[in-house]
Amino acid sequence: MLEGFHPFKHALRFGATILESVTRDPERLNDLTGSLAPDLAGILGAGAVSVPDSVFRQLSPVPPSTGIIALAKRPVLNPGSFSLSAPLALLENPRSHGNIGAAVRVAAAAGAAGLVTTGEHDPWHPSALVGSAGLHFALPVAWLPEIDLDELPTYMAGRKLVAVDPEGEQLDRKGIPDGAILAFGTERDGLTRELLAAAHTRIAIPMEPGVSSLNLATAVAVVLYAWRLG
Ligand SMILES: C[S@@+](CC[C@H](N)C(=O)[O-])C[C@H]1O[C@@H](n2cnc3c(N)ncnc32)[C@H](O)[C@@H]1O
Repeated sequence: MLEGFHPFKHALRFGATILESVTRDPERLNDLTGSLAPDLAGILGAGAVSVPDSVFRQLSPVPPSTGIIALAKRPVLNPGSFSLSAPLALLENPRSHGNIGAAVRVAAAAGAAGLVTTGEHDPWHPSALVGSAGLHFALPVAWLPEIDLDELPTYMAGRKLVAVDPEGEQLDRKGIPDGAILAFGTERDGLTRELLAAAHTRIAIPMEPGVSSLNLATAVAVVLYAWRLG
């Protein structure tokens, strides 16, 4: 489910198949397209069904102010689409859909090979798609509710596992091997003992004394951009 203009825009731009779209304000949609997505003029609003505000407000717990909601097909994961040289972000049991979305967004921007989450929360939850502004469609986003570190899926196998952990060695571009899996821990407790034990190396983002950690999505951003900027 794509709630709002930006998720809809990015989904379309990155090739999503739209199943349905509804708007409460076709004129506003047209104006937004003209100012924010001129590349999608004639495509973005085409096929959107106009509905009264009273109907629109029932479609989402937080109806987007931009007045557009759409349903898109979740892409089938293609193991061959993961870059082998760029790092892959692994979020171990993230709790917040907002953090998942923000991590997907920065992974797309930085050029990560993909993003994988473990645990009970589906990374394709509508709130995570709001957080990513629809950039889930820009890179492979996979969900492994249970992960077996000895039996990784093909798109993860053979990559070096790097634990991103406040107790690690100071972050340095050279500490991120090509195609590494960069593993980030859950919001409250950090990485599990199993994952830390399996890691090839542990890297830490330097912080001022007294600060215990960064927000999960912020940590993903720092490490991916350290890789990207070299
Ligand atoms: C909010 S933090 C978890 C805090 C947890 N108490 C801990 O000590 O790991 C969520 C994740 O962000 C990453 N993170 C946050 N700050 C970090 C730092 N300074 N260095 C390395 N990783 C960090 C780690 O992957 C961590 O597991």
